[in-house]
Amino acid sequence: MKKVAILVSGGGSNMLTLCSSMMDDHPARPVLVLSNDPSAKGLKYAAARGLSVASVDHRKFGKDRAAFEAELVKHLESVEPDIICLAGFMRVLTAGFVERYAGRMLNIHPSLLPKYKGLNTHARALEAGDAEAGCSVHVVTPELDDGPILGQARVTIEPGETASSLAAKVLKQEHRLYPAVLRRFAEGEQGVLELT
Ligand code: GAR
Repeated sequence: MKKVAILVSGGGSNMLTLCSSMMDDHPARPVLVLSNDPSAKGLKYAAARGLSVASVDHRKFGKDRAAFEAELVKHLESVEPDIICLAGFMRVLTAGFVERYAGRMLNIHPSLLPKYKGLNTHARALEAGDAEAGCSVHVVTPELDDGPILGQARVTIEPGETASSLAAKVLKQEHRLYPAVLRRFAEGEQGVLELT
């Protein structure tokens, strides 16, 4: 059984769908939900489901990302995760942290990577006049939103689409994609999952 730690910063809807998916017959189980924000709603939801939760308030560390991450590592090492899932975790991680978990840390990003790394992905897709948008799950590497893609799901951009309507449509697909990719990853399956 693979142990999964999930890092969140906000509402944690992806974290909750990941945890729900692991309640079925599954090769992995959630062992920790960790946040950089002690007031993140996701932590409250996870605790209400009986999951182990912890937080390290990044604001206490100022610009010292290494010290912040050292605290994250302490929590992570206490559960010895096999897989780490970033699920709406909004802090950029240093190369040192990423390399410690090389090849076993996943992230979900709300765009069809390699397009629109970083923030404001939906507004940027609309501005560019794209016909479709979507989400990607990838292996985390030191370069932001850049690692090998494990799966993508697409949505059509409709006339009159706004950034918020698009975000809602894409988030629904994120909730399909991330659990599907995590299951395959935990099973050691190779290849890219394309959800339609
Ligand atoms: C999701 O849309 C996720 O793809 C995005 O934040 C949202 C978190 O929602 N992540 C990023 O933008 C990472 N760069 P959630 O907290 O409800 O899962």
